[in-house]
Parts: sequence; C-alpha cells; structure tokens
Amino acid sequence: MTGGGFATSANGVEFEAKITPIVIISCIMAATGGLMFGYDVGVSGGVTSMPDFLEKFFPVVYRKVQAGTEKDSNYCKYDNQGLQLFTSSLYLAGLTATFFASYTTRTRGRRLTMLIAGVFFIIGVALNAGAQDLAMLIAGRILLGCGVGFANQAVPLFLSEIAPTRIRGGLNILFQLNITIGILFANLVNYGTAKIKGGWGWRLSLGLAGIPALLLTVGALLVTETPNSLVERGRLDEGKAVLRRIRGTDNVEPEFADLLEASRLAKEVKHPFRNLLQRKNRPQLVIAVALQIFQQCTGINAIMFYAPVLFNTVGFGNDASLYSAVVTGAVNVLSTVVSIYSVDKVGRRFLLLEAGVQMFFSQVVIAIILGIKVTDHSTNLSKSFAILVVVMICTYVAAFAWSWGPLGWLIPSETFPLETRSAGQSVTVCVNLLFTFIIAQAFLSMLCHFKFGIFIFFSAWVLVMSFFVMFLLPETKNVPIEEMTERVWKKHWFWARFMDDHNDQVFVNGKKSNGKSNGFDPSTRL
Ligand code: BGC
Repeated sequence: MTGGGFATSANGVEFEAKITPIVIISCIMAATGGLMFGYDVGVSGGVTSMPDFLEKFFPVVYRKVQAGTEKDSNYCKYDNQGLQLFTSSLYLAGLTATFFASYTTRTRGRRLTMLIAGVFFIIGVALNAGAQDLAMLIAGRILLGCGVGFANQAVPLFLSEIAPTRIRGGLNILFQLNITIGILFANLVNYGTAKIKGGWGWRLSLGLAGIPALLLTVGALLVTETPNSLVERGRLDEGKAVLRRIRGTDNVEPEFADLLEASRLAKEVKHPFRNLLQRKNRPQLVIAVALQIFQQCTGINAIMFYAPVLFNTVGFGNDASLYSAVVTGAVNVLSTVVSIYSVDKVGRRFLLLEAGVQMFFSQVVIAIILGIKVTDHSTNLSKSFAILVVVMICTYVAAFAWSWGPLGWLIPSETFPLETRSAGQSVTVCVNLLFTFIIAQAFLSMLCHFKFGIFIFFSAWVLVMSFFVMFLLPETKNVPIEEMTERVWKKHWFWARFMDDHNDQVFVNGKKSNGKSNGFDPSTRL
C-alpha cells in the first residue's frame, strides 16, 4: 500500500536467479505505482491553493480567501468540508477498494488487478482534468482512490513474487522513495502551473497524473503474470515456464517445488484473520496497528496534503507557498535516501527515537512562532520568521522521512510470522488509509479550531509514540523473520508473556492444529 510491504524471503533460501529484463520492468512498475500514489498525495494541496480552482469549485472558500481578514480568522480561511472531501475521498475509496482488490488479486491474478488499477487511474485523471463541477471532481478522486486501492494491493505483491529474494527488501523502501518522488513531482508541477494565466493551470496539474497512470496500464499489459499466482490458480505448467523465463535459468525445480508447497499450505489456512487474532500474534498485530495510527498522527499528511494552504494561511503569497512546498518535498525525498542507507546500520529504534526528538522540537518551535506572530486577524510574520518556519517544517519532514515514513511500512512487513503475513499486511494497509482519511478530512477544521495549537497537538502524539517505541518496540535490525519469535518476542520484557507455547496453534480448515513454522510465505498470496 501506501508504502506497501514486501516479503523478505521464503525460508531465507536463495534460489538461482538472474536480474532479467522482466525483473527490471518490475522495478519500473514499482516506480509508477509509487509515483502515482505520491502524485495524488502531493497534488491536492497545490491546486486547492490556486484561486482559479477555488473560484470554480469552492466559491465560498474563494471569497473568504480573497476578502481578507475582517470576519474570518486567518486560521479558518480554508475550513470547508467539501474542500477536505476533495482530498480525503481518495483515501476512503482506496480503503474500500482494498477489500475488492484483495479478492481479485487472489482469484484473477496480480496482472489483471494492476490493469484494473491503471484503468481506474486513467478514468479518474480524465474526470479530474476535465471537471466541470464539484461532483465530477469528487467522482474523479474516488476513481483515483479505487486505483490506489487496487495498485497498492497488487503492485507490492507482484514485485515480491517477481523479484529475486536478495532485492526484495530494497524494493520495499524503493516503493516509499517513489511515493516521495511523486509528491515532489506534484509540487513542482503545481509551482509551474500556478503561473499559467487563463485559469486552466489546475487542469494541467490534475491531468499530468495521466503519465504515471498510462505507464502503469501499459506496464500491466506488458508484464507477465507471476508464477505464484498461476500456480495458485492451478496453471502449473504455465507457472513453471514463467518461472524459467523470469529467473533466466532452467534450474528452477527447487523454487518451483517451494511454490507448490506454499500454495498447498496457503489453501489449507482457511482463517488467516482468525489466526491473526490469536494471542501469540498479539504483539505483531498491536505493533502494526499502532505504527499506522502513529505514522499518521505525526501530522505528516497535514504538511504533505496542505503545505501550500498552510503556508498561505500564515501569510505567504501564493508563489512563496508553492515554492516552499517544493522545498519540503525535496527534503522528503533526500531524507528517505538517508533511511535506505542507515536503517540496517543504526537500527529502527535509533531512527524512530532520534526522529521523535527532532519532530517534537520542530513542532513546538513552529507553534510558538505562529502563536506569537499569526493571530486571528493579523499576520505579522517577518521574512526571517517566515524562513524559520520553513526551516522548522523541513527539519520535521526530514525526521519523518528517515523514520516513520519508511519504517511504518517496513516493520510490519518484517515482523508478522509467515502464517499471518498476508492478513497482517491487509490490516496494516487498511488502518493506514483509514487514518490518512481522517487527517485529510479533519485537518483544516482542526487548524481553524486549534489554531497554532494544532502543532502542539501533533507534538503530543510524537511524545506518546516515542514512549511506545522506547518501551514496546523491539529492535528487529538484522533478525531473520524465522527467528523473530526466539530472538525478539520471547526475550522482550512485555511481549514475552504472549509467547507461551500452548498458544502455538493455527486454524487449518476450520480446526485448530499445531502451527509450528511451516516455512511457507503467504505474503505472496493475499
Ligand atoms: C505515508 C503517507 C505519506 C508519505 C509521505 C508514507 O509513508 O504512509 O501517508 O504521505 O509517507 O512521504
């Protein structure tokens, strides 16, 4: 999903595999899936700060923004449910679509699911770029959301099945990196299109999402179905032929045997969600759900969705607002690269805790500056203070981008045991989209009511999540998935209590049976 999750390895075994052209095309798919999602995240804030767009679809907001400050508070200029729905509807649709996508991914294959996503995207983009009224605009966003639901379910899965084991982990963060590049790309486009005279700049902003949408669709037509999906649907000979082709070798028997066994066992597990609720899986479930809620409660999407609007609110001109959004977008991309290099060296906990301090500090400074300088009816932000606000927002975004951004996705994907990984991943994606929706829908109203205190609100969350990390999140750096239970959970001061052996059961065909690790990887069969 939004970050998406990739299995690290099936039993940690390496099979013979070359990096074939098909694998390279897979990486391009990862790029377009992530880019598409990121573009949708980044584009809405910029267009909602464009006067022509507001005048056409949200005249009430337009008048408030133009009229200045007599009646309405600075902080409330953009407080409008419809405007928030423009941003948030995508996430609600994505959340709902995930359930259908999980079904088509399993029964119709990864390739078709990606194709459906591409078609949703293309129609959504067309409706958005050609929108004549609010209904058309929202309908477009809903279709884009359906695309996100289908793509974020199928693309990560497709990649984890196509890529050789040794590059799967890297692809996980690559997906996140592409989300951030998509956001930056949208910010840059908005910066350019806002200058277009004639009132159609926003159409170009929304329409350019058609590029990644087309790439994804054409990509889905060109790539092959995964061997895992073919085997799962009983097409064994085809599955083996495809495996030979993508691995670039005839020596695929060991991997194919593993695939068959995985498919047999996956069919036996009839109640993955019930397994997930078992006591022994509680630590991973609680951690995955908490990480998604916390990731969104850092307030990151308040910045990602609404940075230009926010900068406008505190008194920046339109151009400066969009320009500042480009700067924060660039910091987001660069800091994600820092994460790629450091996550396996300094560890997950260090990054999360360091980022906690940095985010808390920067949010408090922003709240203080705004509290003193931006009152309901006057903005008195001098140039140097304005620069300080941008620097603090960048400090905050950098910390997020090397911690909660990628790790919110990485940690669940590496902690769920094999029997529950697919169900765990679905829950992770849904909780993330749900909280993304809530923030998108509520932020501008919260800004209106809490004013500068909104940053204190998010900083309090940062404090809570940092304590959570300190006491309840074990380090998983360099621990192979199969050894998680022994090396991590059984040794943890709190989570060890959930690891009693007599709870070690899985539900197979509706009956309880002993669920000692059976070495299959259901993350490859959602
Ligand atoms: C989050 C998104 C966010 C993005 C920002 C992702 O990890 O899930 O909600 O917009 O990071 O880079």
